[in-house]
Amino acid sequence: MMTMEQIQRPIAAEMLAFEPHFREAMRSRAALLDRIMHYIVKRKGKQMRPMFTLLSARLFGPVTESAFTAASLIELLHTATLVHDDVVDGSPMRRGFFSINALWKNKIAVLVGDYLLSRGLLLAVDKGEFELLRIVSHAVREMSEGELLQLEKSRNLNFSEEVYFTIIRQKTASLIAACCASGASAAGRTAEEVERMRRFGELVGIAFQIKDDLFDYGNGADIGKPSGLDIKEKKLTLPLIHALQQVSTADRRWMVTAVKERNEDDKTVARVIAMVREAGGIAHAQQRMLEHRDQALAVLHSFPQNEARDGLEGLVQLTVERKK
Ligand code: IPE
Ligand code: IPE
Ligand code: MG
Ligand code: MG
Repeated sequence: MMTMEQIQRPIAAEMLAFEPHFREAMRSRAALLDRIMHYIVKRKGKQMRPMFTLLSARLFGPVTESAFTAASLIELLHTATLVHDDVVDGSPMRRGFFSINALWKNKIAVLVGDYLLSRGLLLAVDKGEFELLRIVSHAVREMSEGELLQLEKSRNLNFSEEVYFTIIRQKTASLIAACCASGASAAGRTAEEVERMRRFGELVGIAFQIKDDLFDYGNGADIGKPSGLDIKEKKLTLPLIHALQQVSTADRRWMVTAVKERNEDDKTVARVIAMVREAGGIAHAQQRMLEHRDQALAVLHSFPQNEARDGLEGLVQLTVERKK
């Protein structure tokens, strides 16, 4: 596997310049907001979305100012959705420390998420980046729809893989698709090329969320956020969906009741996780993840090889092999 340094090599200077740019975009004159913004900036994530954006631009030439704006807008928006997601999921932990809702309560977390989103959008408005706003607003709509669909479906515990794929395409893949499309668009590429890059991002994004859902069945490794939370939230993800289709009727009834009614009990959750594993749910999800990785690579390889393409390839590999 490529190291992070190798992946970032074609955009090393740009990633360095991105940091202060991003921090500046979060500054606020309101004391409470500024305190929270500091807290968020200090615990930065993997920054995979800025890397996808900048490498997608770099694939076609030098990184333009527009590509920078895209990277900042998307990381701000991603941060906003994480703050909101932790409220929705009732999660106390993010990036190895307390979530905003755990420290400042839900009311403040909701407003902070809105603030981050508006700062991101304003950044693009100020630069007159309307094509970028078009691409990204589309993703924001899809993400909200995806999270809502997931909530709606968590009440009914027998849905198909197809619904699962719709949910993750909307809530996660749409934003990574927007990274790759906006990078190509910032490089002034044709509509057909922008669309091909969007599709590439969408396929990686699907693999990305399957990986995240696999973490939730984790083996106790430290991923900086709780695991086992999806079952507690009655979130039906691919390992469980597949397992429910494989087990006997009696086991299925037991599992459904366990997730519906005893989902707060650690022992029950552990038993469900063990049953999912035994029924091949983990292996199945892994296989579907790798399928999407391969489809993503096939699309990527329709573009000419260069250093940035190799970097994107490394990022795809990182998506499925990462440890957090
Ligand atoms: C977490 O995204 C949310 C999902 C879409 C699964 P990341 O795993 O990229 O989060 P950070 O930014 O690195 O913390
Ligand atoms: C992804 O879903 C959330 C977003 C797209 C915002 P999860 O709820 O699984 O993400 P984590 O596990 O909390 O990061
Ligand atoms: Mg969550
Ligand atoms: Mg998750």
